[in-house]
Amino acid sequence: MPITPPTDASPAARASAKVPVHPHNASAPFAAPAGKHRAPACTLVIFGAGGDLTKRLLMPALYNLAVDGLLDDGMRIVGVNHGQRETQQWRDDLHSALEQFAADKASTFHAGKLDDNAWNWVAQRLDYRAAEFEDDALYQQLAKELTDGAGKQANVVFYLAVGARFFKPIIEGLGKAGLLEEDEGDDAAFRRIVIEKPFGADLASARDLNRDLLDFAQESQIYRIDHFLGKDTVQSILAVRFANALFEPIWRREYIDSVQITAAEVIGVEGRGGFYEQTGAFRDMLPNHLFQLLGMIAMEPPNSFDAEAVRDKKAEIFDALKPLTPQDVVFGQYGKGPQGAAYRDEPHVAKDSQTETYAAARVYIDNWRWAGVPFYLRTGKRLAARCTEISVQLKSVPFRLFRDTPVDALTPNVLTLRIDPSHGTSFDFNVKTPGPVMEIGAVRSSFDYDDFFAQHANVGYETLLYDCMLGDATLFQRADSIEATWAAVDGVLHPKDGETVPVHGYASGSAGPVQADALLAQDGRAWRTLTPAEPKKQ
Ligand code: BG6
Repeated sequence: MPITPPTDASPAARASAKVPVHPHNASAPFAAPAGKHRAPACTLVIFGAGGDLTKRLLMPALYNLAVDGLLDDGMRIVGVNHGQRETQQWRDDLHSALEQFAADKASTFHAGKLDDNAWNWVAQRLDYRAAEFEDDALYQQLAKELTDGAGKQANVVFYLAVGARFFKPIIEGLGKAGLLEEDEGDDAAFRRIVIEKPFGADLASARDLNRDLLDFAQESQIYRIDHFLGKDTVQSILAVRFANALFEPIWRREYIDSVQITAAEVIGVEGRGGFYEQTGAFRDMLPNHLFQLLGMIAMEPPNSFDAEAVRDKKAEIFDALKPLTPQDVVFGQYGKGPQGAAYRDEPHVAKDSQTETYAAARVYIDNWRWAGVPFYLRTGKRLAARCTEISVQLKSVPFRLFRDTPVDALTPNVLTLRIDPSHGTSFDFNVKTPGPVMEIGAVRSSFDYDDFFAQHANVGYETLLYDCMLGDATLFQRADSIEATWAAVDGVLHPKDGETVPVHGYASGSAGPVQADALLAQDGRAWRTLTPAEPKKQ
């Protein structure tokens, strides 16, 4: 993970340290920002070129990387999909999609007006292949194309932006055609494969998928994506922890009471009923996104920011997760509400569906630092607010110094790392209120990214794509970690004695099922209120 040197914290230095806003009127060639260099020339082969991920996130990210001058002129982007269309049609379709997203404030990619130079630079490099993913001829053809004129291999990233059922045929197709073989030597070309979530549906299927991949590729060639790790605010967890002297000494069971990790959404399943019926909120979010946040919060300091050093420390946490049982989780399903239909009335959802759209869990880490500290995780659709955040609650002070004053209860200190939609941190602590009487008031000190740094266009995939082209796997999942996270939840997915987790109803727009409150109440705790992010003051 690239590290930017620290900047002076004075206001003047802060102003000059602002990240430049995208120069929408910049003309090609775009210069890479100081201290950064372009990714090496390579061909990006996107399987699923006609899909939503390509349109909504990969192309906007490539466009943003082009604007930032981080792509090489030798970059090519080959899109593979089963629909018949010409390359020009693909370019036009992507162009109109990007223009539409750019103008839509609610879209992740709200760049304003597209920069024609940047778009043309990307468009010239796009090339479309209509093919079935199971067709051997596709891979034979790619094998011929992905060499230079002299027959030397080219650098290639194969990106699997496809449904999970296509992973195996594509991996086999690539492997059998020799497309994943790398020549030896320092200047040998790379062959990498990026694979999207869901990485398996449980421990057994994740192991199978790892085996399929490792039959044809080395672990070092495999980049398993969890898009949460592409978020700046998630990467910043390690910065907050390890670039400040304040937090690390108290970052342990002696001082921390509990941790809450929330990923709440207001949207419903948004037409993904078919996928969601098979998956549910628990599989969709817990063993991947929420566990990744937990890993970043709980890992020991690595010796360096080297990919393996970071991933080793995270893997230790996943190994130490106490296996979850059905008693550790609560499932819910949303009913009808002002925002829309009940889950069971969504398209492609069974009328008697028992799929959960909400999941909460109590997780323990069995190691020296965290023994006995509960990590409460929750996620759900159609909840009261969109809010992804981590709150670290400290233990109470050891002695009630203020007992003979009007102060009867102190508000606990809480450090909150806000990931989405507001970006920043806040710290709740106590001060004396003004006036002659000793009274204590709880206050909040907040930092917002927007107050310190100019907004930087980012859909969350830029760093992931750039890192993959550079060969930096820090933000990607290793096989052992993927299997350890699935192993931790296997007792919920396949409970012994057939005991299943009941699915409770909750009102759309609420904070989830009341049974989830009981999970914390058993421990004398309560969930933090789900509050919509306040609009920024102008
Ligand atoms: C995806 C899940 O991985 O993450 C979706 O499949 C979920 O169901 C999404 O909505 C949440 O991601 P973000 O970045 O919007 O918080």
